[in-house]
Amino acid sequence: MDRNAPVGIFDSGVGGLTVAREIIRQIPEERIVYFGDTARLPYGSKSKDTVIRYSRQIIRFLRTMDVKAIVVACNTASAYALDVIQAESDIPVIGVINAGARTAIHATRNGRIGIIGTEGTVNSGIYTEVMRQLKPDIEVFGKSCPLFVPLVEEGLLHDSVTDEIASRYLSVLKGKYIDTLVLGCTHYPLLRSTIRRLMGEAVTLVNPAYETALELRELLKSRDMNRQEQMPFEGEKYQFFVSDLAEKFTDFATAILPGEVKETKQISVEDY
Ligand code: DGL
Repeated sequence: MDRNAPVGIFDSGVGGLTVAREIIRQIPEERIVYFGDTARLPYGSKSKDTVIRYSRQIIRFLRTMDVKAIVVACNTASAYALDVIQAESDIPVIGVINAGARTAIHATRNGRIGIIGTEGTVNSGIYTEVMRQLKPDIEVFGKSCPLFVPLVEEGLLHDSVTDEIASRYLSVLKGKYIDTLVLGCTHYPLLRSTIRRLMGEAVTLVNPAYETALELRELLKSRDMNRQEQMPFEGEKYQFFVSDLAEKFTDFATAILPGEVKETKQISVEDY
């Protein structure tokens, strides 16, 4: 495998950029090809079969870009499709759930952890399953927050409407005496300040993106697949693709990532 090849990252939309941002911070020498499935978002309310089909198409597209490893930067796709696509892939594929679960287990002091995510992620029970494997006596309280993704995609990151909706969703968790809350959807770190204010300083917020970036760094190193900064390459270091609304994505990505995103290309992902 060419260690100079890019890492493929995908999500249903802009949410995975919170993972790309951490990867850029932790392993700035790596090249990235990002795909956001903006035409078919949200994934959170789709069936498992549909999310698996979408994920397979995206993997086939990313493979045409000669990626050396893939990060499923979407909790819903990680919950529903990671096992399947890992089994089918001859390059490493990692998701975000193991990283998030591990971080939460280390962070909690009272053993009571909240998890917020899409309906798909929360109803799959995957976070509870992974956390209980790591620590059997842990108490996990899940709450799906289906309106968070459209609010983020609309750019309503600091808005009274977002405050009101977040307050309703999170009130359920406030009575559970959790001391740790996993932001189990890659869109949610963009609402961090609202969630922080409503949950209070005593609750540790876990963003699985950070730990995922570290996991990727270790994985690439351990397999001698890590890129060296001085290796020459053609084109842009970070490339962005979506299935719809490329310009809107470019503006969003520029707001989230360090440095300007010059271009996003639209592809027809159904063709893969
Ligand atoms: N950002 C994705 C996640 O982490 C899903 C958002 C959606 O498409 O529903 O679950």
